[in-house]
This record gives sequence, C-alpha cells and structure tokens, in this order.
Amino acid sequence: MPYTHVGAVTGANKGIGLAIVRQLALQYPKSALHKSNPESQGLLIYLTARDNSRGEAAVRSLYEEDAQLKKSKALKKDGGWADIKFHPLDIRDTRSIRGLADYLRGEHGERAVDFVVNNAGIAMDGFDNNVVKTTLECNYYGSLEATQEFLPLLKPNGRLINVSSMLGKLNKSPL
Ligand SMILES: NC(=O)c1ccc[n+]([C@@H]2O[C@H](COP(=O)([O-])OP(=O)(O)OC[C@H]3O[C@@H](n4cnc5c(N)ncnc54)[C@H](OP(=O)(O)O)[C@@H]3O)[C@@H](O)[C@H]2O)c1
Repeated sequence: MPYTHVGAVTGANKGIGLAIVRQLALQYPKSALHKSNPESQGLLIYLTARDNSRGEAAVRSLYEEDAQLKKSKALKKDGGWADIKFHPLDIRDTRSIRGLADYLRGEHGERAVDFVVNNAGIAMDGFDNNVVKTTLECNYYGSLEATQEFLPLLKPNGRLINVSSMLGKLNKSPL
C-alpha cells in the first residue's frame, strides 16, 4: 500500500517511544504535513524495538486495546490515515541498524523517509565504569550510528529528532 509519509521511532515498544507513535497517529490528520498535501495517502509509522515479541505486542496493543486511537478513527483500519508496523532495531548492533536502513530503502526508495525519532536509550542504576561504558555505547554511540545510517534516507525536508536528557548537557555532566 502506498503512503505519502513514512517515519520510524526507535525504542518504541514502551515509554516515551510508544507514546510518540500513538501521538503521531492521532495528530497526523491535523498536521501541516497532512494538510499541505491534499493527495495524501497517509502515514506509515515503523514502531521499532530490539525485542521482536515486545515490539509486536506493542503494535497489537495499539491496534486492539487503544480506546483513544479507536475513538479518533486514527488508524487506516478504522477509516483513518495511519498504519503502524513493527520492525526490529537494536541500536547497539550495527547489522540491525543497517538492516532497517536497507529495508526502508528497499521498501520506500531513496530519500523517502519523512522522519526518524532517535528515542531508544537506557538509564542504568548506579555510577561506575560499567554504567558509563554501557550507557555511552547505547545512548551515544548507538544513536550516532543510527543517525549516520538513517540521515541519507531522509527526504530533503525530513527530520531526525533526538530524544535526550538535560543530564546529557556537558555543563551538567558528572564526568
Ligand atoms: N523518562 C524520562 O524522565 C526521561 C528523561 C530524560 C531523557 N529520557 C530519554 O527518553 C528516551 C525514552 O525514555 P523512556 O523513559 O521512555 O525509557 P524506557 O521506558 O526505558 O524506554 C526505553 C526504550 O528504549 C529501548 N531500548 C533500550 N536499549 C535499546 C537498544 N539497544 N536498541 C533499541 N532499543 C533500545 C527499550 O527497549 P526494551 O524494552 O527492550 O528495554 C525501550 O523501548 C530515552 O532515550 C531516555 O534517555 C527520558
């Protein structure tokens, strides 16, 4: 099925990422993106997660259990404009990042993605060498690698959004 707009959200099986996917589906009909294109054939959102079963369960919960999405008729199955599909993505795994980039390119063509939301991240307890190393590997280097792979897929007016924390500001860092 053709879509006018395509985007992906990382780490979207729960928390802020899942909420972003819901809100994108709910708000798309009122958005400038949609309104500026009278021929729009809708929005496809890739809900990505590192664990297949958690990602698929999240998509199912939006399709089957989300009363607000149903009431707003946001999804195409209810006559709306949005579809949500799961695709695996672990931002600590180069092959997984390239796998999604290749899939998006194959499915939608070159420079055909409207947005990527870099939301995936971890918050570990405590503060020692392992916490610093593991957190940097995921939140910094994983997001950086995802950004480098996904940026070339974006439409010229596309957006890459990084969900971050005030704690990440260098002038607030304990390092
Ligand atoms: N909540 C806050 O107050 C707050 C404040 C500042 C910044 N943030 C940032 O906001 C973002 C979302 O936070 P949240 O509160 O929604 O956290 P959350 O509920 O823990 O969700 C984090 C998401 O990231 C996924 N994830 C973790 N490691 C991943 C990896 N290697 N590859 C792909 N996905 C991975 C998790 O998947 P699993 O379920 O498989 O673990 C989960 O889906 C994070 O980047 C966080 O740093 C949050």
